[in-house]
Amino acid sequence: MQENEILQKIAQTLQQSNFKTNKRPIDYQSVDALSKILDLNKQGYQDWEQLFVWIRQYLEYSPNTKHENFANRMWSGANLPSIAGEIITALSNTSACTFESAPVATLMEVYMLRQMLTLVGFKNGEGQMTTGSSNANMIAMMVARNQVLEPVKKEGLFGQKPLFAFVNAEAHYSLDKAVNILGIGSNNLIKIPTFENGSIDTTALEKSIQTTQNKGGIVFFVCATLGTTVRGAYDNITDLLNLKKRYNFWLHGDGAWGGAALMSKKLKAKFLPNVDQLDSFTMDFHKMLGSNLMCNFLLLNHQNLLSFTCCNGDNSYIFRNLDYDLGTTSLQCGRRVDSLKWFLDWKFYTQYGFAKRVENYYALAKFAEDFINKSTALEMVAKRFSFNVCFRFKTAHNTNAFNQRLRDQLHKEQATLLSLGYIGKQLVFRLLISNIKLDKFKLTQLFERLITTGTQLKKIEPTP
Ligand SMILES: Cc1ncc(COP(=O)(O)O)c(C=O)c1O
Repeated sequence: MQENEILQKIAQTLQQSNFKTNKRPIDYQSVDALSKILDLNKQGYQDWEQLFVWIRQYLEYSPNTKHENFANRMWSGANLPSIAGEIITALSNTSACTFESAPVATLMEVYMLRQMLTLVGFKNGEGQMTTGSSNANMIAMMVARNQVLEPVKKEGLFGQKPLFAFVNAEAHYSLDKAVNILGIGSNNLIKIPTFENGSIDTTALEKSIQTTQNKGGIVFFVCATLGTTVRGAYDNITDLLNLKKRYNFWLHGDGAWGGAALMSKKLKAKFLPNVDQLDSFTMDFHKMLGSNLMCNFLLLNHQNLLSFTCCNGDNSYIFRNLDYDLGTTSLQCGRRVDSLKWFLDWKFYTQYGFAKRVENYYALAKFAEDFINKSTALEMVAKRFSFNVCFRFKTAHNTNAFNQRLRDQLHKEQATLLSLGYIGKQLVFRLLISNIKLDKFKLTQLFERLITTGTQLKKIEPTP
């Protein structure tokens, strides 16, 4: 088959698939059943006909993330301009590590980073696109580590005083990975309890910092979670800045999910006051704002630290333009082009469009909370603080197990794929609205389906 024929066939296949017709959010199959259907073990050369069988199966059995009832993660579907960008990126297949291999992608990335620096308010900053907020959190911590202990880059952590990082107890698990990778050690990642609203308890944080210093540890990094993964709580940047003045640590903002509030003046003022005074900030454009996965940026409120931290200084075989070869500030060598989709989305929707989107999600989250509070079948497990709605189906006994079964039942019925999380010991549905097709009507339908299925399930439940 020629390239043109293949591209046409891809388009036809998409047209006929559930991806296009949008009939259901999932075609549920168990692991065993799906393994049998896919028959991945076919040996030897496979022709295009067989490759297209697998392509059709891929489309058939992957969740249709743009369906309104896919409410499983912090993202759903993707913006059309970014889909166009991804297709072009795949077809043109180059690496964004040097200007000469990706001239347009480089200029787009530099342009977009400047736009974001302005939005956040980092006047003399720098930034890079990374592979996601997990990595961005780790890179921010690495920059902070190399600032506080400059010899570490050459000498490692051998013989150094122990370093300590501090996070909200409900911070993302990527911070645990970061301390492991960077040699800080998971015992030295101190998880601070939260206030009732889920934000870091700054009084407990200060006490913990003092105890650590009194024992001779170096307090080098505090991560403000700006939209926690389960509850959507925002750590108080202003209070953390006051602590930073006293204890002189690097203050990073993990806005992977909640950083999107930046787009709206109103929500930025509410959730991200003084964000311009952080040392670093990361956010995923592929979450609430709908760009194709992965689309992340990390910004520093400093200059020339990324190249110091990330680059080994070897430009012998690859780097020819140190001002524009973005690989010199990156931990990667080959870099996927993520800037085209990002740029196209930005130009199409503009900050105004993204602000409206985020404000709409915020209003829908409030609508969902009100619906749950009025419902006799459902209950909120934690008060809604921002975008996240954590609730469950009420039962007299075994509520966790019941909600797990309810979720599985809806999955098997191919009705919806809902997200679960824990608040303390309570299993909750974690509704994260990030689908532009969702409105009050469709949200109501989703809740009604949940209530109907839950009510039926309750009737056939064995009494304990
Ligand atoms: C608060 C927070 N930080 C970091 C991450 C990790 O982001 P990524 O999936 O881009 O690595 C997440 C993901 O859900 C998150 O919720």
